[in-house]
Amino acid sequence: MPLVTTKEMFKKAMEGHYAIGAFNVNNMEIIQAIVDAADEEKSPVILQASSGAIKYARINYLMKMIEAATQETNIPIAVHLDHGPDFETCRMCIDSGFTSVMIDGSKYDFEENIAITKKVVEYAHKHGVVVEAELGKLAGIEDDVNVSQEEAMYTDPEQAKEFVERTGCDSLAIAIGTSHGAYKFKGDAKLRFDILERIKKLIPNTPIVLHGASTVIPELVDMCNKYGANIPGAKGVPDEMLHQASIKGVSKINVDTDLRLAMTSQIRKVFSEEPEVFDPRKYLTPAKEEIKKVVQHKIKNVFASSGRI
Ligand code: G3H
Ligand code: 13P
Ligand code: ZN
Repeated sequence: MPLVTTKEMFKKAMEGHYAIGAFNVNNMEIIQAIVDAADEEKSPVILQASSGAIKYARINYLMKMIEAATQETNIPIAVHLDHGPDFETCRMCIDSGFTSVMIDGSKYDFEENIAITKKVVEYAHKHGVVVEAELGKLAGIEDDVNVSQEEAMYTDPEQAKEFVERTGCDSLAIAIGTSHGAYKFKGDAKLRFDILERIKKLIPNTPIVLHGASTVIPELVDMCNKYGANIPGAKGVPDEMLHQASIKGVSKINVDTDLRLAMTSQIRKVFSEEPEVFDPRKYLTPAKEEIKKVVQHKIKNVFASSGRI
């Protein structure tokens, strides 16, 4: 099946109260693992590449590998630019066949964010490509903020409505307490579902995106640490919270960190337990299998997108 945009998959997800997984890709093993998992679950899926991933793998390689994946399956696959930093990167991806781009203007003030998003929307829509934008700031581990500073980082529902109306973006990434990477919460995990609810009331037809949504799967963190990694105290968003988010109106859930942990845990295990191994297939095969397992679990048990094609 040829690549699709996210339009139809988001429409169905909003109607059915489930979410589509958007998984970050950097190489062939990760692409194959995600697509094999989604194919077995008969689920639509989004493969997304950051500008760092594009720099690493090169855009032509990524596109050709993703095209190869579409030839082996009938599930709907969208290819998306994750955190597009500027107009030029978005344009390059649109011109190279991406079906969706994100322009991440969250680092700018409200008016500047609107201006750059509008510019990308105009170019993308002319080429049949959809646009994800972001409003609000995802807190990072380094952030040492007080309550009112913290409140200011969350997406303001009224502003979200104005932002979507003025930019014409197709979906909106919001800040409700998640953050990127392996250290999302110092204490208990907490998401502001009240803000999500208010946003959904004001813009019910706009698909909502949750970034920084890895579970930071404890077993994988433990396995990494057991085999020599140094990632103590890592913590993510529990499955149950992500499931609630999908039911309450989040249509796209972004996952990268869990895939990194899956891959690293298996490679570390082989290196540690079988030091005589130096054939990359011997450690990349279990790595690929673990990524597939993680993706399949999320699609089936957390996002509930199985069988929705
Ligand atoms: O949100 C960021 C994604 O995890 C991609 O990370 O920029 O290191 O490729 P990256
Ligand atoms: P994680 O770091 O939680 O996997 O988030 C990934 C992400 O938001 C990609 O845009
Ligand atoms: Zn992100």
